[in-house]
Amino acid sequence: METNLVLDSTTYKRSTLGFMWNMLRNPLDALTELAHEQGDIARVKLRRRDLFLLNHPEFIEQVLVKQQDNFIKGPSLQRARIILGEGLLTSEGGEHLAQRRALQPAFHHQRMEEYLPVMNENTFAQISKWQDGARVDISDEMMRLMLNIALWSFFGSAPAGTTERVSESVSALMKLFPLAQLPLPDSTRRLFPKFKQAGADLRRVTESLLQDQQSGESQRALIHILKENNNGQFTDEQIHAHILTFLLAGHETTALLLTWCWDMLAHHSLAQVKLQDEVDRVVGNRFPTAEDIQNLPYARMIVKETLRMRPPAWTIGRQAVHDCEIGGQHIPAGSTVLVSQWVTHHDTRFYDAPHQFRPERWDILEKHSPPRYAFFPFGGGGRICIGEHFAMTEAIAVLAVISRRWDFSPTQDALAKPHPSITLRPDKNVKLIATRRDV
Ligand code: HEM
Repeated sequence: METNLVLDSTTYKRSTLGFMWNMLRNPLDALTELAHEQGDIARVKLRRRDLFLLNHPEFIEQVLVKQQDNFIKGPSLQRARIILGEGLLTSEGGEHLAQRRALQPAFHHQRMEEYLPVMNENTFAQISKWQDGARVDISDEMMRLMLNIALWSFFGSAPAGTTERVSESVSALMKLFPLAQLPLPDSTRRLFPKFKQAGADLRRVTESLLQDQQSGESQRALIHILKENNNGQFTDEQIHAHILTFLLAGHETTALLLTWCWDMLAHHSLAQVKLQDEVDRVVGNRFPTAEDIQNLPYARMIVKETLRMRPPAWTIGRQAVHDCEIGGQHIPAGSTVLVSQWVTHHDTRFYDAPHQFRPERWDILEKHSPPRYAFFPFGGGGRICIGEHFAMTEAIAVLAVISRRWDFSPTQDALAKPHPSITLRPDKNVKLIATRRDV
Protein backbone atom coordinates (compact mmCIF):
# COMPACT_ATOMS: atom_id res chain seq x y z
CA MET A 1 0.00 0.00 0.00
CA GLU A 2 1.39 3.37 -0.94
CA THR A 3 0.67 6.37 1.21
CA ASN A 4 1.93 9.87 1.07
CA LEU A 5 1.35 11.09 4.56
CA VAL A 6 3.68 14.06 4.83
CA LEU A 7 2.70 17.13 2.84
CA ASP A 8 4.19 20.55 3.57
CA SER A 9 1.92 23.60 3.56
CA THR A 10 2.97 24.77 0.06
CA THR A 11 2.15 21.38 -1.40
CA TYR A 12 -1.15 21.52 0.45
CA LYS A 13 -2.07 24.91 -1.02
CA ARG A 14 -1.07 23.95 -4.55
CA SER A 15 -2.83 20.62 -4.36
CA THR A 16 -5.94 22.22 -2.83
CA LEU A 17 -6.37 24.81 -5.57
CA GLY A 18 -5.61 22.30 -8.30
CA PHE A 19 -7.96 19.78 -6.78
CA MET A 20 -10.84 22.25 -6.42
CA TRP A 21 -10.40 23.40 -10.00
CA ASN A 22 -10.29 19.79 -11.24
CA MET A 23 -13.37 18.91 -9.18
CA LEU A 24 -15.32 21.70 -10.86
CA ARG A 25 -14.14 20.61 -14.31
CA ASN A 26 -14.45 16.84 -13.99
CA PRO A 27 -14.80 15.15 -10.58
CA LEU A 28 -14.07 11.67 -11.97
CA ASP A 29 -10.69 12.74 -13.34
CA ALA A 30 -10.01 14.89 -10.29
CA LEU A 31 -10.41 11.97 -7.87
CA THR A 32 -8.43 9.64 -10.14
CA GLU A 33 -5.57 12.14 -10.42
CA LEU A 34 -5.58 12.74 -6.68
CA ALA A 35 -5.28 9.00 -6.07
CA HIS A 36 -2.43 8.72 -8.60
CA GLU A 37 -0.59 11.66 -7.10
CA GLN A 38 -0.94 10.82 -3.44
CA GLY A 39 -1.49 7.05 -3.24
CA ASP A 40 -3.82 5.06 -1.02
CA ILE A 41 -4.53 7.93 1.35
CA ALA A 42 -4.84 11.34 -0.28
CA ARG A 43 -5.33 14.49 1.76
CA VAL A 44 -6.60 17.86 0.63
CA LYS A 45 -6.63 20.83 2.98
CA LEU A 46 -9.90 22.72 2.72
CA ARG A 47 -10.79 25.96 4.48
CA ARG A 48 -12.79 24.47 7.34
CA ARG A 49 -11.77 20.83 7.42
CA ASP A 50 -9.49 18.36 5.66
CA LEU A 51 -10.70 16.00 3.01
CA PHE A 52 -9.29 12.49 2.72
CA LEU A 53 -9.72 10.18 -0.25
CA LEU A 54 -9.07 6.54 0.68
CA ASN A 55 -8.03 4.33 -2.20
CA HIS A 56 -7.22 0.94 -0.80
CA PRO A 57 -9.85 -1.78 -0.13
CA GLU A 58 -8.54 -2.22 3.44
CA PHE A 59 -9.02 1.47 4.20
CA ILE A 60 -12.42 1.52 2.50
CA GLU A 61 -13.44 -1.36 4.77
CA GLN A 62 -12.22 0.61 7.79
CA VAL A 63 -14.57 3.50 6.96
CA LEU A 64 -17.61 1.52 5.84
CA VAL A 65 -17.40 -1.41 8.23
CA LYS A 66 -14.74 -1.65 10.93
CA GLN A 67 -14.90 1.93 12.20
CA GLN A 68 -18.39 2.70 10.89
CA ASP A 69 -19.61 3.93 14.29
CA ASN A 70 -17.16 6.81 14.06
CA PHE A 71 -18.52 8.06 10.73
CA ILE A 72 -21.74 9.82 9.83
CA LYS A 73 -23.00 10.65 6.34
CA GLY A 74 -21.05 13.35 4.53
CA PRO A 75 -22.20 16.97 4.29
CA SER A 76 -24.01 16.55 0.96
CA LEU A 77 -26.33 13.82 2.26
CA GLN A 78 -26.81 15.71 5.48
CA ARG A 79 -28.06 18.62 3.36
CA ALA A 80 -30.25 16.28 1.28
CA ARG A 81 -32.46 16.03 4.40
CA ILE A 82 -34.14 19.20 3.28
CA ILE A 83 -35.53 17.22 0.33
CA LEU A 84 -35.62 13.65 1.61
CA GLY A 85 -36.58 14.25 5.25
CA GLU A 86 -35.43 11.82 7.97
CA GLY A 87 -35.67 8.61 5.96
CA LEU A 88 -33.38 5.60 5.81
CA LEU A 89 -30.80 7.31 3.60
CA THR A 90 -30.40 10.35 5.83
CA SER A 91 -31.03 9.24 9.45
CA GLU A 92 -28.17 8.37 11.83
CA GLY A 93 -27.33 6.20 14.86
CA GLY A 94 -30.11 4.56 16.88
CA GLU A 95 -32.79 6.21 14.76
CA HIS A 96 -31.29 4.68 11.60
CA LEU A 97 -30.92 1.26 13.19
CA ALA A 98 -34.58 1.19 14.30
CA GLN A 99 -35.77 2.22 10.82
CA ARG A 100 -33.51 -0.32 9.13
CA ARG A 101 -34.77 -3.17 11.36
CA ALA A 102 -38.40 -2.24 10.67
CA LEU A 103 -37.97 -1.97 6.88
CA GLN A 104 -35.54 -4.84 6.24
CA PRO A 105 -38.23 -7.58 5.93
CA ALA A 106 -39.51 -5.94 2.71
CA PHE A 107 -36.08 -6.62 1.14
CA HIS A 108 -35.27 -10.17 2.25
CA HIS A 109 -34.01 -12.56 -0.40
CA GLN A 110 -37.23 -14.59 -0.22
CA ARG A 111 -39.31 -11.53 -1.08
CA MET A 112 -37.75 -11.42 -4.55
CA GLU A 113 -40.11 -14.17 -5.74
CA GLU A 114 -42.96 -11.80 -4.99
CA TYR A 115 -41.40 -8.92 -6.93
CA LEU A 116 -40.27 -10.94 -9.95
CA PRO A 117 -43.68 -11.16 -11.72
CA VAL A 118 -44.03 -7.36 -11.39
CA MET A 119 -40.58 -6.92 -12.97
CA ASN A 120 -41.31 -9.39 -15.80
CA GLU A 121 -44.79 -8.13 -16.65
CA ASN A 122 -43.93 -4.43 -16.59
CA THR A 123 -40.90 -5.06 -18.80
CA PHE A 124 -42.90 -7.13 -21.28
CA ALA A 125 -45.67 -4.50 -21.46
CA GLN A 126 -43.20 -1.70 -22.11
CA ILE A 127 -41.14 -3.42 -24.84
CA SER A 128 -44.30 -4.55 -26.63
CA LYS A 129 -44.75 -0.91 -27.71
CA TRP A 130 -41.39 -0.75 -29.52
CA GLN A 131 -41.27 -0.69 -33.33
CA ASP A 132 -38.94 -3.06 -35.17
CA GLY A 133 -35.89 -1.18 -36.50
CA ALA A 134 -36.80 2.04 -34.68
CA ARG A 135 -34.56 4.22 -32.56
CA VAL A 136 -35.32 3.74 -28.85
CA ASP A 137 -34.42 6.30 -26.18
CA ILE A 138 -33.15 3.66 -23.79
CA SER A 139 -32.45 6.20 -21.01
CA ASP A 140 -36.09 7.33 -20.93
CA GLU A 141 -37.42 3.80 -21.38
CA MET A 142 -35.39 2.39 -18.49
CA MET A 143 -36.26 5.34 -16.24
CA ARG A 144 -40.02 4.88 -16.83
CA LEU A 145 -39.80 1.10 -16.51
CA MET A 146 -37.87 1.16 -13.22
CA LEU A 147 -40.24 3.73 -11.76
CA ASN A 148 -43.27 1.63 -12.67
CA ILE A 149 -41.63 -1.47 -11.20
CA ALA A 150 -40.82 0.42 -7.98
CA LEU A 151 -44.39 1.76 -7.68
CA TRP A 152 -45.99 -1.64 -8.23
CA SER A 153 -43.46 -3.58 -6.13
CA PHE A 154 -43.46 -1.33 -3.08
CA PHE A 155 -46.92 0.24 -3.14
CA GLY A 156 -48.99 -2.23 -5.17
CA SER A 157 -50.30 0.41 -7.56
CA ALA A 158 -49.29 3.24 -9.85
CA PRO A 159 -52.15 5.78 -9.62
CA ALA A 160 -52.81 7.58 -12.92
CA GLY A 161 -50.20 10.22 -13.64
CA THR A 162 -47.90 9.23 -10.75
CA THR A 163 -45.09 8.03 -13.01
CA GLU A 164 -45.07 11.35 -14.88
CA ARG A 165 -45.32 13.43 -11.71
CA VAL A 166 -42.48 11.57 -10.00
CA SER A 167 -40.36 11.81 -13.18
CA GLU A 168 -40.89 15.57 -13.35
CA SER A 169 -40.09 16.05 -9.67
CA VAL A 170 -36.97 13.90 -9.96
CA SER A 171 -35.71 15.92 -12.95
CA ALA A 172 -36.41 19.14 -11.03
CA LEU A 173 -34.55 17.77 -8.01
CA MET A 174 -31.55 16.73 -10.08
CA LYS A 175 -31.29 20.31 -11.31
CA LEU A 176 -31.74 21.69 -7.80
CA PHE A 177 -29.29 19.34 -6.15
CA PRO A 178 -26.21 21.52 -6.74
CA LEU A 179 -28.08 24.33 -4.97
CA ALA A 180 -28.72 22.00 -2.05
CA GLN A 181 -24.97 21.51 -1.80
CA LEU A 182 -24.26 25.16 -1.06
CA PRO A 183 -23.32 25.66 2.58
CA LEU A 184 -26.31 27.90 3.38
CA PRO A 185 -28.58 27.58 6.41
CA ASP A 186 -31.61 25.37 5.67
CA SER A 187 -34.00 28.22 6.47
CA THR A 188 -32.68 30.35 3.58
CA ARG A 189 -32.97 27.48 1.13
CA ARG A 190 -36.57 26.83 2.04
CA LEU A 191 -37.35 30.31 0.82
CA PHE A 192 -36.13 29.52 -2.68
CA PRO A 193 -39.38 29.14 -4.65
CA LYS A 194 -38.11 26.20 -6.67
CA PHE A 195 -37.24 24.26 -3.55
CA LYS A 196 -40.65 25.00 -2.12
CA GLN A 197 -42.28 23.94 -5.37
CA ALA A 198 -40.32 20.65 -5.68
CA GLY A 199 -40.98 19.89 -2.00
CA ALA A 200 -44.73 20.55 -2.35
CA ASP A 201 -44.99 18.47 -5.56
CA LEU A 202 -43.29 15.52 -3.95
CA ARG A 203 -45.40 15.82 -0.84
CA ARG A 204 -48.53 15.63 -3.01
CA VAL A 205 -47.19 12.49 -4.71
CA THR A 206 -46.45 10.73 -1.42
CA GLU A 207 -49.82 11.82 0.00
CA SER A 208 -51.74 10.46 -2.96
CA LEU A 209 -49.80 7.18 -2.80
CA LEU A 210 -50.59 6.84 0.87
CA GLN A 211 -54.26 7.69 0.40
CA ASP A 212 -54.56 5.22 -2.43
CA GLN A 213 -53.11 2.57 -0.16
CA GLN A 214 -55.38 3.39 2.75
CA SER A 215 -58.45 2.83 0.64
CA GLY A 216 -57.00 -0.18 -1.24
CA GLU A 217 -56.16 -3.70 -0.19
CA SER A 218 -52.48 -3.75 -1.13
CA GLN A 219 -50.52 -6.49 0.58
CA ARG A 220 -47.18 -5.19 -0.63
CA ALA A 221 -44.58 -5.64 2.07
CA LEU A 222 -43.23 -2.12 2.17
CA ILE A 223 -46.50 -0.21 2.35
CA HIS A 224 -47.78 -2.79 4.83
CA ILE A 225 -44.83 -2.13 7.13
CA LEU A 226 -45.29 1.63 6.81
CA LYS A 227 -49.01 1.43 7.56
CA GLU A 228 -48.58 -0.94 10.49
CA ASN A 229 -46.05 1.40 12.01
CA ASN A 230 -48.23 4.46 11.52
CA ASN A 231 -49.09 6.07 14.88
CA GLY A 232 -46.51 3.76 16.33
CA GLN A 233 -42.88 3.71 15.42
CA PHE A 234 -43.07 6.05 12.43
CA THR A 235 -44.38 9.58 12.48
CA ASP A 236 -46.31 10.94 9.48
CA GLU A 237 -43.22 12.86 8.42
CA GLN A 238 -41.13 9.69 8.51
CA ILE A 239 -43.66 7.76 6.45
CA HIS A 240 -43.51 10.44 3.77
CA ALA A 241 -39.71 10.43 3.99
CA HIS A 242 -39.66 6.64 3.51
CA ILE A 243 -42.01 6.70 0.52
CA LEU A 244 -39.92 9.41 -1.07
CA THR A 245 -36.63 7.64 -0.33
CA PHE A 246 -37.79 4.35 -1.83
CA LEU A 247 -39.27 6.04 -4.86
CA LEU A 248 -36.10 7.98 -5.59
CA ALA A 249 -33.40 5.52 -4.47
CA GLY A 250 -35.39 2.58 -5.85
CA HIS A 251 -35.60 3.59 -9.49
CA GLU A 252 -32.93 6.07 -10.58
CA THR A 253 -29.90 3.91 -9.80
CA THR A 254 -31.29 0.75 -11.41
CA ALA A 255 -32.46 2.71 -14.47
CA LEU A 256 -28.92 4.04 -14.92
CA LEU A 257 -27.41 0.59 -14.40
CA LEU A 258 -29.62 -0.87 -17.14
CA THR A 259 -29.04 2.07 -19.49
CA TRP A 260 -25.29 1.54 -19.14
CA CYS A 261 -25.74 -2.25 -19.62
CA TRP A 262 -27.58 -1.77 -22.93
CA ASP A 263 -25.07 0.80 -24.16
CA MET A 264 -22.22 -1.64 -23.36
CA LEU A 265 -24.02 -4.55 -25.06
CA ALA A 266 -24.90 -2.55 -28.18
CA HIS A 267 -21.18 -1.74 -28.53
CA HIS A 268 -19.99 -5.29 -27.69
CA SER A 269 -21.95 -7.54 -30.01
CA LEU A 270 -20.17 -10.77 -28.94
CA ALA A 271 -21.26 -10.21 -25.34
CA GLN A 272 -24.79 -9.48 -26.53
CA VAL A 273 -24.92 -12.73 -28.53
CA LYS A 274 -23.52 -14.69 -25.57
CA LEU A 275 -26.22 -13.24 -23.33
CA GLN A 276 -28.96 -14.06 -25.86
CA ASP A 277 -27.67 -17.67 -26.13
CA GLU A 278 -27.74 -18.08 -22.37
CA VAL A 279 -31.26 -16.65 -22.06
CA ASP A 280 -32.57 -18.73 -25.00
CA ARG A 281 -31.17 -21.88 -23.37
CA VAL A 282 -32.18 -21.27 -19.75
CA VAL A 283 -35.42 -19.27 -20.04
CA GLY A 284 -36.69 -19.40 -23.63
CA ASN A 285 -40.15 -17.89 -24.11
CA ARG A 286 -41.17 -18.14 -20.44
CA PHE A 287 -40.65 -15.31 -17.98
CA PRO A 288 -37.59 -15.87 -15.75
CA THR A 289 -38.29 -17.47 -12.35
CA ALA A 290 -36.30 -16.92 -9.15
CA GLU A 291 -34.42 -20.14 -9.94
CA ASP A 292 -33.58 -18.91 -13.46
CA ILE A 293 -32.12 -15.71 -12.01
CA GLN A 294 -29.54 -17.88 -10.19
CA ASN A 295 -28.86 -19.84 -13.40
CA LEU A 296 -27.89 -16.96 -15.66
CA PRO A 297 -24.21 -16.55 -14.78
CA TYR A 298 -23.31 -14.58 -17.89
CA ALA A 299 -26.13 -12.08 -17.32
CA ARG A 300 -24.87 -11.64 -13.73
CA MET A 301 -21.32 -11.06 -15.03
CA ILE A 302 -22.61 -8.38 -17.41
CA VAL A 303 -24.36 -6.63 -14.55
CA LYS A 304 -21.26 -6.80 -12.34
CA GLU A 305 -18.95 -5.59 -15.09
CA THR A 306 -21.28 -2.66 -15.76
CA LEU A 307 -21.47 -1.85 -12.04
CA ARG A 308 -17.67 -1.90 -12.01
CA MET A 309 -17.18 0.37 -15.01
CA ARG A 310 -20.17 2.67 -14.55
CA PRO A 311 -21.07 2.53 -10.84
CA PRO A 312 -24.35 4.51 -10.46
CA ALA A 313 -23.15 5.48 -6.96
CA TRP A 314 -19.66 6.68 -7.88
CA THR A 315 -18.54 8.00 -4.50
CA ILE A 316 -19.53 7.74 -0.83
CA GLY A 317 -18.85 10.56 1.62
CA ARG A 318 -18.54 10.38 5.39
CA GLN A 319 -17.63 12.75 8.20
CA ALA A 320 -15.44 11.63 11.11
CA VAL A 321 -17.13 12.16 14.50
CA HIS A 322 -13.99 11.73 16.63
CA ASP A 323 -10.28 11.72 15.81
CA CYS A 324 -9.26 8.33 14.45
CA GLU A 325 -6.50 6.55 12.57
CA ILE A 326 -6.64 4.68 9.29
CA GLY A 327 -3.59 3.07 7.70
CA GLY A 328 -1.30 5.06 10.04
CA GLN A 329 -2.91 8.38 9.03
CA HIS A 330 -4.41 10.54 11.75
CA ILE A 331 -7.89 11.69 10.72
CA PRO A 332 -9.10 14.65 12.79
CA ALA A 333 -12.73 14.84 13.98
CA GLY A 334 -14.87 16.70 11.44
CA SER A 335 -12.79 15.64 8.41
CA THR A 336 -14.60 14.60 5.28
CA VAL A 337 -13.63 11.12 4.12
CA LEU A 338 -14.39 9.97 0.59
CA VAL A 339 -14.22 6.50 -0.91
CA SER A 340 -14.87 6.27 -4.62
CA GLN A 341 -16.25 3.31 -6.52
CA TRP A 342 -15.17 5.05 -9.72
CA VAL A 343 -11.51 5.24 -8.64
CA THR A 344 -11.22 1.81 -7.00
CA HIS A 345 -13.15 -0.06 -9.71
CA HIS A 346 -10.64 1.27 -12.27
CA ASP A 347 -7.52 0.50 -10.23
CA THR A 348 -5.06 -1.60 -12.28
CA ARG A 349 -3.88 -3.40 -9.12
CA PHE A 350 -7.26 -5.15 -9.01
CA TYR A 351 -8.46 -5.09 -12.63
CA ASP A 352 -6.51 -5.70 -15.86
CA ALA A 353 -7.37 -3.22 -18.60
CA PRO A 354 -9.94 -1.55 -16.33
CA HIS A 355 -11.43 0.60 -19.09
CA GLN A 356 -12.37 -2.43 -21.18
CA PHE A 357 -15.76 -4.11 -20.90
CA ARG A 358 -14.95 -7.76 -20.22
CA PRO A 359 -17.77 -9.59 -18.40
CA GLU A 360 -15.66 -12.79 -18.49
CA ARG A 361 -13.18 -11.28 -16.04
CA TRP A 362 -15.67 -12.08 -13.26
CA ASP A 363 -15.25 -15.79 -13.90
CA ILE A 364 -11.58 -15.48 -13.01
CA LEU A 365 -12.09 -12.87 -10.28
CA GLU A 366 -14.58 -15.08 -8.47
CA LYS A 367 -12.00 -17.91 -8.30
CA HIS A 368 -9.13 -15.65 -7.20
CA SER A 369 -11.27 -13.43 -4.97
CA PRO A 370 -9.90 -9.89 -5.13
CA PRO A 371 -10.01 -7.92 -1.86
CA ARG A 372 -13.63 -7.56 -0.69
CA TYR A 373 -13.73 -3.76 -0.99
CA ALA A 374 -12.12 -3.59 -4.43
CA PHE A 375 -15.74 -3.83 -5.65
CA PHE A 376 -18.41 -2.06 -3.61
CA PRO A 377 -21.17 -0.73 -5.91
CA PHE A 378 -23.69 -1.03 -3.07
CA GLY A 379 -21.45 0.31 -0.29
CA GLY A 380 -20.87 -1.80 2.84
CA GLY A 381 -21.39 -2.23 6.57
CA GLY A 382 -24.50 -1.03 8.39
CA ARG A 383 -25.37 1.43 5.60
CA ILE A 384 -25.08 -1.08 2.74
CA CYS A 385 -27.79 -0.60 0.15
CA ILE A 386 -31.01 -2.16 1.44
CA GLY A 387 -32.14 -2.65 -2.18
CA GLU A 388 -29.09 -4.66 -3.35
CA HIS A 389 -30.92 -7.98 -3.92
CA PHE A 390 -33.86 -6.16 -5.43
CA ALA A 391 -31.58 -4.29 -7.85
CA MET A 392 -29.61 -7.40 -8.88
CA THR A 393 -32.79 -9.45 -9.41
CA GLU A 394 -34.40 -6.63 -11.35
CA ALA A 395 -31.35 -6.05 -13.57
CA ILE A 396 -31.00 -9.75 -14.47
CA ALA A 397 -34.75 -10.19 -15.05
CA VAL A 398 -34.97 -7.12 -17.29
CA LEU A 399 -31.86 -8.22 -19.24
CA ALA A 400 -33.41 -11.67 -19.73
CA VAL A 401 -36.89 -10.52 -20.79
CA ILE A 402 -35.58 -7.93 -23.25
CA SER A 403 -32.59 -9.79 -24.72
CA ARG A 404 -34.82 -12.77 -25.59
CA ARG A 405 -36.91 -10.47 -27.80
CA TRP A 406 -34.75 -7.55 -28.95
CA ASP A 407 -31.26 -6.94 -30.27
CA PHE A 408 -29.60 -3.52 -29.97
CA SER A 409 -27.14 -1.70 -32.15
CA PRO A 410 -25.57 1.68 -31.44
CA THR A 411 -26.50 4.99 -33.07
CA GLN A 412 -23.06 6.44 -32.41
CA ASP A 413 -19.55 4.98 -32.51
CA ALA A 414 -18.50 5.67 -28.96
CA LEU A 415 -20.06 4.68 -25.65
CA ALA A 416 -21.96 7.44 -23.84
CA LYS A 417 -19.68 9.55 -21.63
CA PRO A 418 -20.22 9.33 -17.87
CA HIS A 419 -21.46 12.54 -16.26
CA PRO A 420 -21.11 12.57 -12.46
CA SER A 421 -24.19 14.15 -10.91
CA ILE A 422 -25.64 12.76 -7.63
CA THR A 423 -25.49 9.50 -9.57
CA LEU A 424 -23.36 8.56 -12.58
CA ARG A 425 -25.51 9.44 -15.59
CA PRO A 426 -24.73 9.39 -19.32
CA ASP A 427 -23.91 12.92 -20.57
CA LYS A 428 -26.76 12.61 -23.09
CA ASN A 429 -29.71 10.24 -23.33
CA VAL A 430 -28.61 6.89 -24.83
CA LYS A 431 -30.44 6.07 -28.06
CA LEU A 432 -30.14 2.64 -29.68
CA ILE A 433 -31.65 0.86 -32.69
CA ALA A 434 -33.87 -2.02 -31.54
CA THR A 435 -34.30 -4.96 -33.90
CA ARG A 436 -36.86 -7.66 -33.13
CA ARG A 437 -35.19 -11.06 -32.75
CA ASP A 438 -36.44 -13.86 -34.92
CA VAL A 439 -37.03 -16.49 -32.21
C1 HEM B 1 -27.95 -0.42 -9.11
C2 HEM B 1 -28.74 -0.04 -8.16
C3 HEM B 1 -28.31 0.57 -6.86
C4 HEM B 1 -27.09 1.05 -6.47
C5 HEM B 1 -25.79 1.09 -7.27
C6 HEM B 1 -27.23 1.51 -5.10
C7 HEM B 1 -26.19 2.02 -4.34
C8 HEM B 1 -26.31 2.34 -3.01
C9 HEM B 1 -25.20 2.70 -2.16
C10 HEM B 1 -23.75 2.79 -2.57
C11 HEM B 1 -25.70 2.93 -0.92
C12 HEM B 1 -24.91 3.28 0.34
C13 HEM B 1 -24.75 4.79 0.49
C14 HEM B 1 -23.87 5.15 1.68
O1 HEM B 1 -23.27 4.28 2.30
O2 HEM B 1 -23.78 6.35 1.97
C15 HEM B 1 -27.13 2.75 -0.99
C16 HEM B 1 -28.01 2.92 0.07
C17 HEM B 1 -29.37 2.81 -0.04
N1 HEM B 1 -30.07 2.34 -1.13
FE1 HEM B 1 -29.31 1.74 -2.88
N2 HEM B 1 -28.53 1.33 -4.71
C18 HEM B 1 -29.22 0.74 -5.74
C19 HEM B 1 -30.55 0.35 -5.74
C20 HEM B 1 -31.42 0.57 -4.72
C21 HEM B 1 -32.80 0.16 -4.70
C22 HEM B 1 -33.47 -0.66 -5.80
C23 HEM B 1 -33.34 0.64 -3.54
C24 HEM B 1 -34.74 0.50 -3.01
C25 HEM B 1 -35.48 -0.45 -3.23
C26 HEM B 1 -32.30 1.33 -2.83
C27 HEM B 1 -32.47 1.96 -1.62
C28 HEM B 1 -31.42 2.38 -0.83
C29 HEM B 1 -31.59 2.91 0.52
C30 HEM B 1 -32.92 3.13 1.23
C31 HEM B 1 -30.32 3.16 1.02
C32 HEM B 1 -29.95 3.66 2.41
C33 HEM B 1 -29.67 2.45 3.28
C34 HEM B 1 -29.25 2.78 4.71
O3 HEM B 1 -28.58 3.78 4.93
O4 HEM B 1 -29.59 1.98 5.60
N3 HEM B 1 -31.15 1.26 -3.56
N4 HEM B 1 -27.48 2.37 -2.26
